[in-house]
Amino acid sequence: MRIAATADLHYSPQSYDKIREPFTRVRDEADVLVIAGDLTNYGKAEEMHSLLNALVRLRIPIIAVLGNHDYESGQEQELIKMMTTEGIKVLDGSSYERDGIGFAGTKVFVGGFGRGVLTAFGEKEVKAFVQASIDETMKLERALSMLRTEKIVIVTHYSPVVETVRGEPTEIWPYLGSSRLAEVIDRHGAVAAIHGHAHHGQPEGKTTGGVPVHNVALSLLMAQQPPKPYRVLEI
Ligand SMILES: [Fe+2]
Ligand SMILES: [Fe+2]
Repeated sequence: MRIAATADLHYSPQSYDKIREPFTRVRDEADVLVIAGDLTNYGKAEEMHSLLNALVRLRIPIIAVLGNHDYESGQEQELIKMMTTEGIKVLDGSSYERDGIGFAGTKVFVGGFGRGVLTAFGEKEVKAFVQASIDETMKLERALSMLRTEKIVIVTHYSPVVETVRGEPTEIWPYLGSSRLAEVIDRHGAVAAIHGHAHHGQPEGKTTGGVPVHNVALSLLMAQQPPKPYRVLEI
């Protein structure tokens, strides 16, 4: 299967104009399009409405997770409904099988990497923050446990590894992903993990267990030569 992957469209009519033309070729180059969150800028239904108008014209099956920007206006459930109505498979702690490949996805949450992972100690606010990270990781675990396919692709908005956020200021790394996620990925195994959010990170990384991690933030994809609004992975 050829998977075209992208993330962080942060839709506005002006920004979409820059990718409209190259995006039309996605149907010839891939069997499915994966969007790893931040489809909108402010999480508003109006933004999603305009973006969906553009996406349906691509005439390719789409699998997506939401990103933090899609939560900004508290309309995430409405956005999911709009996307689902247009036939997009939205993964929110859920899984989906297509042509023998299992997709498991959710937005997940932040929390830091390696020895810097924030733990639930001290103030109740810190505990609540860490719990949000654990809860999202559990959602991914649930999604993975439902799959029986030989090949699994994981889709999240935040990064499971520090390697793909390098390039961003070190001060913000803990807000770009969490190693908790990589532990789940390695426990279940996967052929690829796709994420976005780290706009200025690195395109490639690996979990400790050797699962390839792909950061497909649009700004990274468009910085490559030639610029392209998606990246095709052969699975
Ligand atoms: Fe983003
Ligand atoms: Fe984001």
